[in-house]
Amino acid sequence: MEGAALTRRGLLVGIGAVGGAGAMYAAMGALGLAPSEQDKAFTPPRPGDFALRGRAAASVVILGAGVAGLTAAYELGKAGYDCTILEARAKAGGRNLTLRGGDRLTELRGPAQEVRFGEGVYFNAGPGRIAPWMVTLDYCRELGVPIETFVNRNAAAYVHTNGQTMRARTAQADMYGYVAELLAKATDLGALDKMITKDDRERLLDFLRRFGDLGPKLEYEGSERRGFTKFPAIGAGSPIPAPGSLHQVLAAGTGHAITNDFGYDQATPMFQPVGGMDAIVTKLVEAVGADRIRTGARVTKITTLADGVEVTYSGGAGGTVKADYCIAALPPHILARIPHNLGAQVTAALRTPVPVPAGKIGLEYGTRWWELEDRIYGGVTETDLDITHIWYPSHGYHSERGLLVGYYNTDANAELYAALTPDDRRRRALTQGKKIHGEKYRQNVLSSASIAWERQEHIEGGWVRWPSVDSSFTLLQRPAGRVYFAGDWLTHLIAWQAGAMESARGVVTELHERVLRSP
Ligand code: PHE
Repeated sequence: MEGAALTRRGLLVGIGAVGGAGAMYAAMGALGLAPSEQDKAFTPPRPGDFALRGRAAASVVILGAGVAGLTAAYELGKAGYDCTILEARAKAGGRNLTLRGGDRLTELRGPAQEVRFGEGVYFNAGPGRIAPWMVTLDYCRELGVPIETFVNRNAAAYVHTNGQTMRARTAQADMYGYVAELLAKATDLGALDKMITKDDRERLLDFLRRFGDLGPKLEYEGSERRGFTKFPAIGAGSPIPAPGSLHQVLAAGTGHAITNDFGYDQATPMFQPVGGMDAIVTKLVEAVGADRIRTGARVTKITTLADGVEVTYSGGAGGTVKADYCIAALPPHILARIPHNLGAQVTAALRTPVPVPAGKIGLEYGTRWWELEDRIYGGVTETDLDITHIWYPSHGYHSERGLLVGYYNTDANAELYAALTPDDRRRRALTQGKKIHGEKYRQNVLSSASIAWERQEHIEGGWVRWPSVDSSFTLLQRPAGRVYFAGDWLTHLIAWQAGAMESARGVVTELHERVLRSP
């Protein structure tokens, strides 16, 4: 998704593309991001570590019970650290939020929503998919969170661009077909002779024939891959009408949509916890101990001292927590507003990343028409409308009700919906979706709930974007006195739970090493 592009990552990828991996790693080293430091295998702290060195586990106050804060508490807890988590919101989880019937969702500058989904229906309002290489799956395994496939790519989902709707398979067949044709023709121009051998040319042509389903003259003439209005079973069947010209296909603007899952973090198969993303939070809270988490506790002051830290908070009875160390796992823009004695440089650094607005709506239907009528089982429809994406559920197939994500957008599109009332958000989302699915999209809607992350209290953003490569990022990866910082925003996995977890692990390792070294 272009909205999530991270300048730093983009820059590194750019350097990698031009100068190769060596240049990229050199640049990362210069930025203080050398992989040698980052990619050390993680070993959780163990109680035995202390016995050997005559040290004892320290006390740690953790700010924020989001995925970063919970992971830090969980890992430190393995060695007996005494962790206290202060969470300003009513419950743990942060952006890992799954909404169900009976929940109430409040919003800054907007009305509260009563969630009325039926039994068993849920809406992952925050994270919704996990790539298999991400550490998130290791935690699912370790914590006993069952997972199932998340369908991130579905040939039967739609691409809607320039007012036209077609199946993803059709858009892909046409783009691949014409690209293959062009390249096949280029093999005849003589230019390729200098680059590849005659044998390789034949192999390439063989591949291009398959890749684009080219005709005998190496021309793209359409393909059964594009789909059928009626699949030939007993009778003859009818393929969908022939493709447009190369010009028409390019002008349709489907190219962006069909490359959406090419990214390292988007490749199929992806996964989701069974029953809702918040299963991860539930298990982490269980492992940490709910009694260690003080909810409704808003941090008002952070003080690092020679021999410890002091954190004051309001809410409930309010209070002060004294501990040996602090891990501040709040969003940077929230942290920046809390009075502290960590120095002006820290404040300036915390103000550098810019919150990205992001929104989603869950639409619950009384019938799973997308399966029954459109034959779409999971997956994502890509659009150039302000809803950007529609996600079909990857679970509960053939059950009676179902919930789809009617928009998942960022930046200006997210702000546009955020400014509307919940009813108007739904109306607008339904009007847009109708352009793709027809009138049935507006029928049989049982209920809905929408989130505007920049209007969520104590969070105020979907994620953040670093505007430029500067020293703020590396400064905050180091502790300020006895205060450490953690969160996805301090990693190259922004907007992924894996980022929060990796960051927490890094901080846990450093903190533990410091405790073991301490006099
Ligand atoms: N992790 C989020 C998602 O799955 C946001 C994101 C999208 C981050 C694409 C990076 C790339 O949608």
